[in-house]
Amino acid sequence: MAAISPSPNSGVSSSDFVLPDEPPDRETAEGWAQWRRSRRSFVAAPFLDLRTYRALSPRDKAFHDLHRRATHANLPMLETPMSATVSRLLHSRMQTNSLNAGPSTRPGVMINGGGNQGKTETTAEAAASFEEMWLHLRQRCDPEPLPGVRDVRCTVAYVQTPVKATPKATCESILDFFGDHISRSATLTQLIRQVRTSLRDHRTRVLILDDITRLRMHRVDDQDTLDLLRSLMSMRVTLILVGVGIPKSGLLRGAQRDATGQWAFEPYALDADWADDETTQTERRFDLADLEPFRYGTAEDIAHFVTHLAGLEGQLRLFNARPGMLTGGIMPEYVYRRTGGVVGYIERLIGDGAALAMDTGTEEINEGVLDRVLIRAGGPRRDAASGEEGEVPPQPASMKGRRKPRNKVLDDPGVPASSTAVT
Ligand SMILES: Nc1ncnc2c1ncn2[C@@H]1O[C@H](COP(=O)(O)OP(=O)(O)O)[C@@H](O)[C@H]1O
Ligand SMILES: [Mg+2]
Repeated sequence: MAAISPSPNSGVSSSDFVLPDEPPDRETAEGWAQWRRSRRSFVAAPFLDLRTYRALSPRDKAFHDLHRRATHANLPMLETPMSATVSRLLHSRMQTNSLNAGPSTRPGVMINGGGNQGKTETTAEAAASFEEMWLHLRQRCDPEPLPGVRDVRCTVAYVQTPVKATPKATCESILDFFGDHISRSATLTQLIRQVRTSLRDHRTRVLILDDITRLRMHRVDDQDTLDLLRSLMSMRVTLILVGVGIPKSGLLRGAQRDATGQWAFEPYALDADWADDETTQTERRFDLADLEPFRYGTAEDIAHFVTHLAGLEGQLRLFNARPGMLTGGIMPEYVYRRTGGVVGYIERLIGDGAALAMDTGTEEINEGVLDRVLIRAGGPRRDAASGEEGEVPPQPASMKGRRKPRNKVLDDPGVPASSTAVT
């Protein structure tokens, strides 16, 4: 990690700002733990007024601008009414299941929603905070490893389903998370057994399979996929399946919805070796939770949306920012129209808008600035064919043919523009 510092006593930053390193790879046990420990460590730039900024040395100005840019590029997760509901459900399931010492089945959770609606981050955050609590309690709940033996505990395993996944490749991804040996010639049955052993050896309580809807259910190996999922459901972990369009994907095939809204799968005993013996005879239950975008229909909906914008506004470090910059006048309606209330698009619009406000020197966000931000679908690690991008609402027609104005407001050009998308 590269730490850069401003001049001593410049007031530019109270702590050394650390340039973000490669993000940890959450799909390995080590990377997941590193992410969990560091996920709240980013320190936003301090608020400086323009007078104070102008009095800084060129070096401190450059430092502060860099820190402001990093702040806009690392907007924090904010609790939304939708994420709060999903988090509560996840916490309740993870805790109850993990404290249950008996052989009874453990209900799982499926998180369904469109692309960029926060499914991955909400689930990862809930699992990470559960894990923190669990590690805290672990002396009581979980015996310490024997002296001299490597602690291989992984309370949470996070696995992204491979694109065009097959059941075998999915098992391999789970084993890869733990770094456990994979025999490439193993059959699916052998791999599932290995997964079960790994989950036990690592005392895993929660297994997250993200983007599960990559496992298409119209292929020849449909039955294998169902067998895999049913057998994972029969292992003693809280299974969390996250995906786009779960109800239509075929994953719920054979399940019945009961009066409480939970889905119940038939008892599964195809091969008792795959599962924990006592659990094969009992049905498996799942909650299906939808993570939806903001709505804009009622006064209450609008109030929730405006609260989210106010939260983002508080994170921006722009010199001409005024209270109500994102929440006053037509801005909420404008942002809603641009983003459809999808958290991921809102984050991109405002983050890129703030970068553009710095590039152009306007140092505030207004409709004119946001008109020039293109919300691009297409992120790394997203499979568009599986609907993981979602649908970006139409972009403003006024963006076409505009040129970027020059910075005339501030006396320091600061740091070169980042990768903000400008047409
Ligand atoms: N509650 C939230 N507050 C602010 N930003 C969020 C929130 N939830 C998600 N995001 C941001 O939205 C983007 C998309 O989220 P992600 O969890 O990857 O969506 P999905 O898995 O549904 O496609 C991420 O950059 C994430 O940081
Ligand atoms: Mg995701």
